[in-house]
Amino acid sequence: MQFLNKNVLITGAGSGIGRATAIEFARRGARVVVSDLNDSDGQATLGMLNAAQSGAHVYLHADIRRDEDVAKLIEGCLRLGNLDVAVNNAGAPCPPLLFEDQTDAQWDITVGTNLRGTWKCMQHEIRAMRKVGRGSIVNLASVVGLGALPAMSPYVASKFGIVGLTKAAALECAAAGIRVNCICPGIIATNIVNALPDEAKKMIVGMHPIGRMGDAEEVARAICWMASDDASFLVGAHLTLDGGYSAQ
Ligand SMILES: NC(=O)c1ccc[n+]([C@@H]2O[C@H](COP(=O)([O-])OP(=O)(O)OC[C@H]3O[C@@H](n4cnc5c(N)ncnc54)[C@H](O)[C@@H]3O)[C@@H](O)[C@H]2O)c1
Repeated sequence: MQFLNKNVLITGAGSGIGRATAIEFARRGARVVVSDLNDSDGQATLGMLNAAQSGAHVYLHADIRRDEDVAKLIEGCLRLGNLDVAVNNAGAPCPPLLFEDQTDAQWDITVGTNLRGTWKCMQHEIRAMRKVGRGSIVNLASVVGLGALPAMSPYVASKFGIVGLTKAAALECAAAGIRVNCICPGIIATNIVNALPDEAKKMIVGMHPIGRMGDAEEVARAICWMASDDASFLVGAHLTLDGGYSAQ
């Protein structure tokens, strides 16, 4: 019950890491605001949470690329009380193409969602948290936000950007009682990765010294720790959670 009476917003909570994180926060007593672009997936997550605790949680639609959606999302959160924790998890991959073959449209989707969308969410979240002088923000970056891999340049650029945004915001917010940190997962076995051919999955597993991919639940537990008072001195950090990938 670590998060009892706390309101926690999770973007992109309709699947994968976001859904697992919503379930973990709810298990620890939080009231979760599930948000996603995909309403049926978001409602499905909400159904899972409310099956355990009827009516405790809410779903709010938001496409984080749309400024008006983000503004309405945070207004909706504040109608429930303070915004104690925000997990900026919504993200979009890009197709595996060479640098010069990535398109403008794809750049807008991947960078527009991951970098600009996260930035917009953070602006609104920080404004709300400053008013009460406390809060915790966890952003989802990636190990490719610390070192590049080929054929995913818009995604790499967006995730390097999220690490930068995290540190820039953390410096400005620490004295106001708001902690901003990010998590850099290795490859996590969510839908997109599970759909890859066996050969690709084998290659991915081989990149991780631990000899397997991560689970969404392992990321969820790290996010909960990062957001909690147990991590009260953690400010502007990027935590790698990658089975040893970045230790090589
Ligand atoms: N799975 C991995 O291996 C991995 C590794 C490192 C980092 N990450 C990051 O973790 C986060 C979650 O990844 P995942 O694997 O669970 O992905 P996922 O595709 O399962 O979930 C992403 C969710 O974000 C939502 N979303 C996409 N665009 C959105 C938008 N514009 N507005 C609102 N919601 C939007 C999707 O509908 C989906 O529910 C992402 O930021 C991703 O980049 C994932």
